[in-house]
Amino acid sequence: MILVTGGAGFIGSNFILDWFKLGDEAIINLDALTYAGNMENLSALTDCDRHIFIHGNICDAYLLSALFKSHRPRAIIHFAAESHVDRSIFGPAEFLHTNVQGTFKLLEAARAFYNTLDGNERAAFRFLHISTDEVYGTLAPGDAPFSEKTPYAPNSPYSASKAASDHFVRAYYHTYGLPTITTNCSNNYGPYQFPEKLIPLMILNALEGKPLPIYGDGKQVRDWLYVSDHCSGIRRVLEAGQPGETYNIGGLNEKMNIDIVKAVCALLDELRPSADGPYARLMTFVEDRPGHDSRYAINPSKIMNELGWKPQETFESGIRKTVHWYLNNSDWIKSVMSGEYKGWLQKNYMQRGRQEQ
Ligand code: NAD
Ligand code: TYD
Repeated sequence: MILVTGGAGFIGSNFILDWFKLGDEAIINLDALTYAGNMENLSALTDCDRHIFIHGNICDAYLLSALFKSHRPRAIIHFAAESHVDRSIFGPAEFLHTNVQGTFKLLEAARAFYNTLDGNERAAFRFLHISTDEVYGTLAPGDAPFSEKTPYAPNSPYSASKAASDHFVRAYYHTYGLPTITTNCSNNYGPYQFPEKLIPLMILNALEGKPLPIYGDGKQVRDWLYVSDHCSGIRRVLEAGQPGETYNIGGLNEKMNIDIVKAVCALLDELRPSADGPYARLMTFVEDRPGHDSRYAINPSKIMNELGWKPQETFESGIRKTVHWYLNNSDWIKSVMSGEYKGWLQKNYMQRGRQEQ
């Protein structure tokens, strides 16, 4: 079996759902169920005895040690993290705690377990750390995309905490020989993404006739990857990635934020037209994010050439699937629009002044 952390979140739950579509190797899913974790994401697995859910925290060393002893996973896929840049600006402490301390605790528990293994079990063991392209900082318009050799230059408390965790993961390979591998992926989108992130926020606000808040001039660039393509990249790295290596994952889909919002509006105009007119009427420029990185772009040639991975979705096919999913899953949407979510919208958006462009 494998141990997944953060498997009730956006990418972790997509990873687990895809995993059981392809095979039946068991998963222990350790998740603290923060605001971002949602068991509804995994409701399709209610009757699946291969999915063992543990409600617990990666900072709990005692629990981690007990899980390794009783379940003896052959690999760890570490997704659990605080993941939202805007939240890291309001409250960086939780990011330090979960992303750095939590990863450290997990590494320590994995190292203790690894030291008990021998033979084939030891040779096969892997610790996959799921990280982000944001650790590389920001690019100017003509700069080459991030490669695995790009120096780290994190600019937000979120990316700084992920960078710190990446460094610990690297150090555990070099110092203790723990067979770690890190993946650095670009922005994901798709089903089950919590509506604090750009794409689901825009879909849900548009459907409610609310303003679509675009930070600054909306010309910042992100490199978008459909979530199941990220999951297939992770599976490929688990199968064939080399310990001590890092792999950038991205789908060569650089887009300006404003074009993403226009694409969402156009799809909603087609699939769920509003009596009040085109959704683009709701686009509203608001005060920028402090320290806003202007461009991310991933060079995925290492994972493509060395491991033979490639994405299945284009941006056009992926965004259409995503909009369809949100339109067809109103119960899920209701389940995440809780008090916590409303409080977040109030905190993040009420104080941002509207900006004329
Ligand atoms: P998410 O915020 O949707 O989910 C995080 C999950 O981790 C939640 O289920 C939450 O309950 C759980 N969690 C948080 N703190 C925990 C703790 N202390 N102990 C146990 N569980 C805890 O995040 P996501 O978007 O699914 O991202 C998953 C991973 O992928 C993160 O490490 C993130 O840095 C990385 N990543 C995300 C993206 C993206 O675009 N979303 C891109 C590249 C990399
Ligand atoms: P986000 O989805 O938060 O991901 P990240 O900050 O990790 O890239 O944001 C994606 C881009 O969209 C980013 O440049 C910030 C911008 N953005 C807005 O313009 N308005 C919003 O309301 C949000 C949440 C993000």
